[in-house]
Amino acid sequence: MMKRLLLLCIVILALAGCGGGAASNAPTPLPSSTPIPTFQFIPPTEPAAIATAAASTEEVGTAEAVALDPEMVERGRDRYVVLECGSCHGENGEGTEEGSALAGTTLSEADFITYLRTGGDIGNDHLYSTDRLSERGGRNLYAYVLSLSAGS
Ligand code: HEC
Repeated sequence: MMKRLLLLCIVILALAGCGGGAASNAPTPLPSSTPIPTFQFIPPTEPAAIATAAASTEEVGTAEAVALDPEMVERGRDRYVVLECGSCHGENGEGTEEGSALAGTTLSEADFITYLRTGGDIGNDHLYSTDRLSERGGRNLYAYVLSLSAGS
């Protein structure tokens, strides 16, 4: 009698163990409803760099707030030397009798490049077309001129 009871106990325990094991292997139940992903627009904490540069050159007129790309400045310096801007505007843009100072310019990049492309008030004598100064070259040159303002 005791033996059978013991056997029964063992069988029950074994079944319980099995049952437990089966339960833990069971796949996690699927959610009853499909979650729909939502996207939230998180506004940037800082304004875009380009916007800052444009605003600061326009409002303040100085380039100090603008972070200059040193590579552009270096290439711009090359343009400045090769095109001999310094012969009239001074080696460091400080100006000479032949031309005004470029350091501390209040011109925007667009106006600066337009001046060179059109010759400004001077005309042909101050004309730098794309065969001498590329689009990129013009921007580099402007970066160099800005660096002159920041340095002095
Ligand atoms: C032959 C002399 C000469 C050379 C070379 C020369 N410039 Fe000028 N530049 C002038 C004169 C003169 C003016 C107009 C009067 C002034 O602002 O002095 C002028 C005006 C400018 C202006 C307009 C300034 C303003 O505030 O309105 C810019 C920008 C400029 N030059 C950039 C350059 C750059 C960049 C180079 C080289 C690619 C260059 N210049 C080469 C003589 C020269």
